[in-house]
Parts: sequence; C-alpha cells; structure tokens
Amino acid sequence: MIDGARLLCYNCGWTGDLESLRYTCPRCGEPLTIVYDRERLVEGSRKEMKGRGVWRYSAFLPFPEDVEPVTLDEGWTPLHQSRLARGLRLKNEGLNPTASFKDRGMTVAVTDARRRGATKVICASTGNTAASVAAYAARAGMTSYVLVPSGAVARGKLAQAIAHGARIIKVRGSFDEALREVLRIVSSDRSFYLMNSVNPYRIEGQKTLAFELWEQLGRRVPDVVVLPVGNAGNISAIWKGFKELKEAGLADSTPRMIGVQAEGAAPLARAFEEGLSELRPVESPQTYATAIRIGSPVSWRRALMAARESGGAIISVGDDSILEAQKDLARVDGVFVEPASAASVAGYRRALAEGLVDGGEEVVAILTGHGLKDPDAVSRFDFVEVEVEPGQLSRELSSYR
Ligand code: F0G
Repeated sequence: MIDGARLLCYNCGWTGDLESLRYTCPRCGEPLTIVYDRERLVEGSRKEMKGRGVWRYSAFLPFPEDVEPVTLDEGWTPLHQSRLARGLRLKNEGLNPTASFKDRGMTVAVTDARRRGATKVICASTGNTAASVAAYAARAGMTSYVLVPSGAVARGKLAQAIAHGARIIKVRGSFDEALREVLRIVSSDRSFYLMNSVNPYRIEGQKTLAFELWEQLGRRVPDVVVLPVGNAGNISAIWKGFKELKEAGLADSTPRMIGVQAEGAAPLARAFEEGLSELRPVESPQTYATAIRIGSPVSWRRALMAARESGGAIISVGDDSILEAQKDLARVDGVFVEPASAASVAGYRRALAEGLVDGGEEVVAILTGHGLKDPDAVSRFDFVEVEVEPGQLSRELSSYR
C-alpha cells in the first residue's frame, strides 16, 4: 500500500487505489492521474533531497521508500541563459541519457513495471519515446515493442531503438493510429505494460522537471514556461509538478504554461483559441517537426486545463519559424536541438510579439530533444561545404575574402 496517493480521473472524478494497474478511467476512458494528499506533499517537502535528477524528488513519487529505481541518471539537465533574449532561459533536456526529456518518465514507469513483474513493455511513438523505452527496457532486462508511423521517424531515434534491441513495428498510418492499436492491445493482453504517457507513472517522472527548475532558480519558479506540445503529456506533467510544489508549501506561485504546436498539427491551439471544450482532431497532421506530428493528443483535456488554470495559452507556429528558431539556437546559443524543441523558442517569439509575454519576464523554454536525433533536418539549413584536393586549401580560403 502506498500511503497518501491514489488514482484520479480529472474528467469524471472516479478515484481508485494504486495497487491494481490501470491507465485509463474505468468509467469514462480518460487517462488517469496519480494525486497525493496534501499532508503527504507537505511531509515530502520536509525530507532531505538527496542525489541528482529524477530520484532526488522521490518523496514526491508514488513508491515505497525502499524502491530500487531502474535508472540511467536522468534529469539534472543544464539551464542556460539564452543570447537570443535577455529574459529567456533554455532548459536543455536533450542532455538526458537518451537525449530527450522522455527519460524522466521512463525511469519511473520502468521502475513500476519491474515492481509489478512485467517483462514486456510496449509503446507507440514518433521516435523519442521509442528510443527511451528501448534503453530503459534493456536496462531492466525486459523486451520492448515499439510502434512507429512508417516513414515518419527521424533517423537518430530509429537508430537508438535498433541499438537497444527493441522489436520495431512500423505502422502504415499516423502516430494517432499507432497509439490506438497499442491501447487496444494493452486493454486485452495484460502481459504488455504500457509506456505511453497515458500511463500515470510517466507523468510522475516528467513532473520532476518543475522541481528541478525551482531548485535551479534558487527555490523560485519562473514567470512563464514555454514548451512544445504533441500528445500533451509533458505540459500536463510539468504543470502538475508546479501545482504540487505550491501545495507542498515550497513555492508561493506557479508559472503560466504556454504550449506550442506546429501549425499543421495544432488541434489544441485551435481548441484554446476558440474556447472549445471538446477536441476536434486533425486528420492528417503535417509538420517537419515529426516529434509533434500528432492530430489527436491523448492528454488534450489535461493540456487545456494546464493552459487555462495557469493563465497561459496554447499557440501554434509555422514550420518556417520553427526552422528559424532551430538555426538561431544552434548558431547563436550553441545549442543543437531537434525541430520540435525549437517550437518552444518560435512560440516564445510569437508570444512576445502578441503581448502574451513581457520582455522583462523570466521565461524558461524547454528544449525537449537533441538535434542529433534528426540529422536530416539540417538539410534545410543554409551552409558552406566544399571539397578540396590536398594542397588546394589556401587557394580555396583566399576565394572567401
Ligand atoms: N518534443 C519532443 C522532442 C518530443 O519527442 C515530443 C513527443 C514532444 C516534444 C511533445 O511532448 O507528447 O508530451 O506533448 N514525443 C512523443 C514520442 C510523442 O513518441 O516520442 P508531448
């Protein structure tokens, strides 16, 4: 029994204990969330934070104290000051063990999988989840099954899944269709443990980014957090982290959450702008930021809640401005990110232009994945590359003047 924690459905109010493994609400089908009693959070705030990364915040995770984590030392990523804008800081999640933020959720979910005796884990993915699942499953001695939309996964991510020994299943369809397949499988065959962010343990791991930011800023929260949104697990998780920090008495405010989608895959931005309470999925989502090429985000309700409750927004940006931001991050800040991650900085620029954010405010952009994940994306950059015969270098260089 895990004291002071239970499952809650934010949609219909269903609640249940953590013992039996459930991902979605038995009443309405919404992804479930793990919630803590206030006393448990306050008690957690009094415990010493030991070590670095995700498990530093274990007092806020749903495990007994003697749990043995499956870990690769994820988290504790750098927070850089950007040279692009005075008020902008960059949380570099590309420096996690498999080079994306997914590792935060995976260490927690695989730890739960092992506690429950699972040997097979499964996910649908646009690439990063697959890479991370493959690595953590390897670490735990489990077999991983990853479903990816065929032809739409960045090369670096696929290479990782191959390297870590995942069984790779390409689905002739979109990410949304692949996820529907996976959800069908896990509901009928309990031998597969689900690794998508429908699994509430993933959210628990990813919320630690909020705790870490709070510490990195000297036990304060920023004014605004801006991040890319695809399936919408991460915005839900980080918002949950900030709310818990406040409830625990560690922070006295919460930041505004600004989620950013790519224009061709922006059902949440549209729902937010139009004040809708239902999601209208995008049938064939398009963007070169393949990580967030998602038309029917599974955590859409939680994401809208995060934006509305926090006083933030969900906005969209065009592929051109994503590319521009990706290039600027690489060439001005020295930080190479994949296209989806650059959506956060493109979103910051739009938010600034539209007055959603003030230049004097402290804003943290979450850079969710490393640029090497998607090496083909740089074919869109302008660059200089020549080939010379040995002995011809000085002639070539003098032609530049
Ligand atoms: N940034 C990157 C680099 C991602 O890989 C993802 C999601 C997101 C942002 C969006 O996060 O889905 O929590 O809103 N990638 C998933 C995957 C879908 O399968 O790797 P989200």
